[in-house]
Amino acid sequence: MDFTDTMRQRRAINFFDPDKPVSDEELKGIIETASLAPSGLNLQPWQVIVVRSQEAKEKLMAAASRQTKIIEAPVTLIILADMNGWKAGHPMVEKTWANLLDLGYMKPDQRGWFEKGAQKLYGTQEKSLAFAVKNAAFFSMALMLAAKDAGLDSHPMDGFDPEAVRKAFDIPENFFIPLLIAIGHFNDRSMLMPPKWRKSYGEVVHATF
Ligand SMILES: Cc1cc2nc3c(=O)[nH]c(=O)nc-3n(C[C@H](O)[C@H](O)[C@H](O)COP(=O)(O)O)c2cc1C
Repeated sequence: MDFTDTMRQRRAINFFDPDKPVSDEELKGIIETASLAPSGLNLQPWQVIVVRSQEAKEKLMAAASRQTKIIEAPVTLIILADMNGWKAGHPMVEKTWANLLDLGYMKPDQRGWFEKGAQKLYGTQEKSLAFAVKNAAFFSMALMLAAKDAGLDSHPMDGFDPEAVRKAFDIPENFFIPLLIAIGHFNDRSMLMPPKWRKSYGEVVHATF
């Protein structure tokens, strides 16, 4: 599908067809495509919890304003944004560093610079949160577009109680939970509401210098 069509055709789908499954292969494909999203220092501070079983869906729905699409959609992802994902010693930071060395982006004696840079960019509570959420948001958008491109529909949700979700799924404190994303197929026995307005070019551009 042409990129602009993918953008236009992605909609937040309220009604999923519970009889149309999403295979593990399809889910793996869209997660792998979304993983191509960019991230600060390439640290990719996102993970997901895959909610598929009836029991897990019910637990999640109870923490998410009883949004029934969580039951109807074959799968819902709990998006996790890792606020520690920039700190030296974190496995993904070390993997990123090793990759930068392997590819010749960095030399071993630049390690101090790398660590100090991350500390300066992300080393307060507010900055760690912003780091985690902005990168997880890029991943989430990529995931919804990858789903559309693969013939699947999705629905992002922030209407949930993060502490209830944390408790129900035993999510460690280093993860902020920005979003749930339901994935499946639109239930064509229901009505798809018309697309809502979007800002015009002039409303998006705040200033030009
Ligand atoms: C961060 C975010 C949180 C959202 N949370 C909810 C939600 O909890 N429940 C819901 O019904 N829709 C939710 N939505 C869907 C939006 O209402 C929807 O994307 C928007 O109205 C535009 O419609 P469209 O996605 O069909 O173009 C959310 C969307 C985003 C991006």
